[in-house]
Amino acid sequence: MRVLVVSSSPNKDGLTAACARAAVEAIRRAGHQVREIRLNDLDIRHCQACNKGWGSCWDKRQCCQEDDFGALHRELVAADAYVWVTPVYFGEPSESMKAFLDRLRRCKRSTADGHGAFINKPMIAVAAAGGSGNGIVSCLSCLERWIRHVSGRKVDFIGVTRFNRAYKLAQIARAAEFMVTEFSSA
Ligand SMILES: Cc1cc2nc3c(=O)[nH]c(=O)nc-3n(C[C@H](O)[C@H](O)[C@H](O)COP(=O)(O)O)c2cc1C
Repeated sequence: MRVLVVSSSPNKDGLTAACARAAVEAIRRAGHQVREIRLNDLDIRHCQACNKGWGSCWDKRQCCQEDDFGALHRELVAADAYVWVTPVYFGEPSESMKAFLDRLRRCKRSTADGHGAFINKPMIAVAAAGGSGNGIVSCLSCLERWIRHVSGRKVDFIGVTRFNRAYKLAQIARAAEFMVTEFSSA
């Protein structure tokens, strides 16, 4: 199974990074292919809602903007499972995650036959709320709505705070290991 761990913090050594690392290491230990993608290292702009809102993403299944989105989109379509890891900003996913998921949602019918590329593919969503912990549920709710939109398989939703970090990192590892083991032949 090939898994992509997509993270969206500008901080390379914070709570979000620790969560992504826990998933990557568990997937690797379980003998599966994994790559972490740090959205903040890429040039991914926000959706321009071209063609009066119904852009080429809808009929051509690809975005017309020339930035790092296109190559990442192709890699995501080819992957089997995903872990989305975002810091909680103002009770929502971070700006880089929101901009990326907005565009990806529009390309959900991403395969050549026009079917959804993400249908039934297993996904884990992680929200890292390193401040008060406020907004952790609303952030996960945003991710749940997105996964529902692309018809992904909802394996787990994990909220991590600086107070529960120790056992939640272990939970992320366990969930990631479970995902690759349980769904590898699906
Ligand atoms: C702009 C901004 C908004 C934030 N909003 C929240 C919030 O609503 N709730 C919370 O618990 N923490 C909030 N935080 C704290 C982040 O969730 C915390 O820094 C988190 O650990 C970010 O991940 P990092 O460790 O990768 O930087 C916010 C931080 C920033 C920079």
